Amino acid sequence: MAITTDTRLAPLDEQITIRQLTDDPYPIYARLRREAPVLRVKSVGRTLLTKAEDTKYVKDNPGLFSSDDPNTPMKRAFRAHTLMRKDGEEHARERGAMAPAFTGRNIKQCWEPIYTKVAEEYVARLPRGETVDLFTALAGPFAARCLTHLLGIPEASDEDMQRWSQILIDGAGNFGWTDALFAECDKANDEMDALFIAAAERHRAEPNQSALSVMVNAEDPIPQSQIHSNIKIAIGGGINEPRDALLTIVYGLLSNPDQFEAAKRDGLWMEAFEEGVRWVAPIQVSSRLVTEDTEIRGFHIPKGDTVMTIQASACHDEDLYEDGHLYNIFRPKQPHQAFGNGPHFCQGTHVARRMLANIMLPMLFDRFPDMALADADAVRFTGFGFRGPRSLPVVLN
Ligand code: HEM
Repeated sequence: MAITTDTRLAPLDEQITIRQLTDDPYPIYARLRREAPVLRVKSVGRTLLTKAEDTKYVKDNPGLFSSDDPNTPMKRAFRAHTLMRKDGEEHARERGAMAPAFTGRNIKQCWEPIYTKVAEEYVARLPRGETVDLFTALAGPFAARCLTHLLGIPEASDEDMQRWSQILIDGAGNFGWTDALFAECDKANDEMDALFIAAAERHRAEPNQSALSVMVNAEDPIPQSQIHSNIKIAIGGGINEPRDALLTIVYGLLSNPDQFEAAKRDGLWMEAFEEGVRWVAPIQVSSRLVTEDTEIRGFHIPKGDTVMTIQASACHDEDLYEDGHLYNIFRPKQPHQAFGNGPHFCQGTHVARRMLANIMLPMLFDRFPDMALADADAVRFTGFGFRGPRSLPVVLN
């Protein structure tokens, strides 16, 4: 590893490439946890933190490590600053505006019955005895349809939801500020804004517990621009993760027959879920802006630096997990960081647990108990920011 050190700053790496981090980041993170847990990586333009203690420390200290990045392309892509990029009171107010849609009571009373129906319908249309790609045939559309209900826009199609989600993600990551990409974002924003305006009218007349409905009907509503941008953050952040988590879990189970058998026999679906998101965290990294000169592990971290907390690496940290690179639903229970930490902790955590561990996994394997990977060697995981298998061909039996 080509590392050069200055006396106080963290070492600088000039060799790690984004391509390597996209293709196979875990061996790199394992090396960094051992040799350079605080490392400035030139290709990424950020200081990478790979130890669980450090990633948690940063997210738990929003005063020192802000989510507000004034130069984020996300602002341009979403046409407004979203709650993910705000701090303190402002963040709490916007997160609080959506919160009623995510309460345990509403998940149980409103979303669980709808999600169960959606799962039944989507699993029932899978053809028995054939090879299908679970990415396109189930995981993507299921995540999209569930989200339309939670957000209060059931008139949006699965295809549009998945397309918008990808465009927003690409736009938020458009660090090259490519015009063509932002033009696509503009088009998608126009489509979404028109749909939200029409749906808001309906929610004013017939309120329900969906995120859009509770926001437009609040006594002291947040501005429309923020209602729209926060619904968009949920579209950008609420499809990929459950989709990739489902595919990762199915792959983990099907490639470990003893675990698969035990899960079916003893109903270990929550264990399968938690281990899947720990094993390959669907959101691998989160950045924070340093607001004051500080230190991490004795290295000077200057104000204005951006630290990248690698929760994917935290979830494999040897301090907490033995053989963290292996999928093992029998491993001792241990909290993980796949849903983040601190004030920006994933708002959809319980929704995701419910829809996958309680509903989809038991239903899918009840219908196809002998499901098998069509070609285990052909499954490729990819992604630096978001990670999962790009396809998952299985034989359905
Ligand atoms: C397995 C599934 C999921 C995983 C692993 C996951 C992971 C995460 C992580 C790591 C963050 C924190 C990002 C940061 O600290 O910068 C986050 C934030 C968020 N997630 Fe999830 N997510 C999942 C599903 C969902 C779902 C289904 C929704 C539903 C809408 C959702 C909505 C959100 C929102 C709104 C935020 C922003 C919270 C804030 O900034 O206060 N997520 N998610």
